[in-house]
Amino acid sequence: MTFFKILFFGDIIGAIGRDGVIRALQELRMELSPDLIIANVENLSHGRGISVKSLLELDTSGIDAYTSGNHVWENTQGVTCFDDPRWKDRLVRPGNIISGRPGRGSTIIKKCGVRVLIINLLGQIFMKDEVMNPFKAIDGILRDPMDVDLALIDLHAEATSEKEAFGHYVDGRAAAVFGTHTHVPTADQKILPGGTAYVTDIGRNGAMDSVIGFEKNSAVTAFLDPSTKSYGLPKHGKIEINAILLTINIDAKRAASIDRIRKIVDG
Ligand SMILES: [Fe+2]
Ligand SMILES: [Fe+2]
Repeated sequence: MTFFKILFFGDIIGAIGRDGVIRALQELRMELSPDLIIANVENLSHGRGISVKSLLELDTSGIDAYTSGNHVWENTQGVTCFDDPRWKDRLVRPGNIISGRPGRGSTIIKKCGVRVLIINLLGQIFMKDEVMNPFKAIDGILRDPMDVDLALIDLHAEATSEKEAFGHYVDGRAAAVFGTHTHVPTADQKILPGGTAYVTDIGRNGAMDSVIGFEKNSAVTAFLDPSTKSYGLPKHGKIEINAILLTINIDAKRAASIDRIRKIVDG
């Protein structure tokens, strides 16, 4: 029996999140021996989008591929990363976005002889972006016969019901559905009846004493006065690390186990 282990980090938020993931990976790599490491980077650069500098920094930790979400285009200088030879084949953005945006919605990564299709989609509920229905979009993506061993989906969405329904919709057709975007981990990791691993949200990699990774006082102020929108990022303090370790039985083409990884790192 052949098993393949994937370590998937939820949204990494700013410098403090990058620092936490890079340091946590030194131990996690030894503890878990993952075959493939993936991270969501939509908030990587100052909490908004990506940059050459921040991706290069993460690359030093040996992350193989990156997914993203609705904020990934917000640092306009970082948009070049989607065409950069260093990342264009291992960085994906939501594939169901309607307006023309740079980047690709899926990619195939080969590690240890296993071909992995990585798909990124945005949800529709409580989201501002104009997107194709992710349920219909995934049918189009998975309909094409592709020479892959397994498919992973990062469903970047707000509503828990939309994510859970989506998990059941693709059960048996994808190896896993990883929820991202809310920055708060959920405790519902499970394997669905058809063999698809599922979690509603992996959670953030970023400041613990914060509001979804952002400076807590400015976030509270914004709820009191919605005209104030500028959220800073904490520079110091404890960092929460949230990831999922997924083990796939390649021969059976189904998930064998899904485990939540949570660590608190001193920042
Ligand atoms: Fe995010
Ligand atoms: Fe997001």
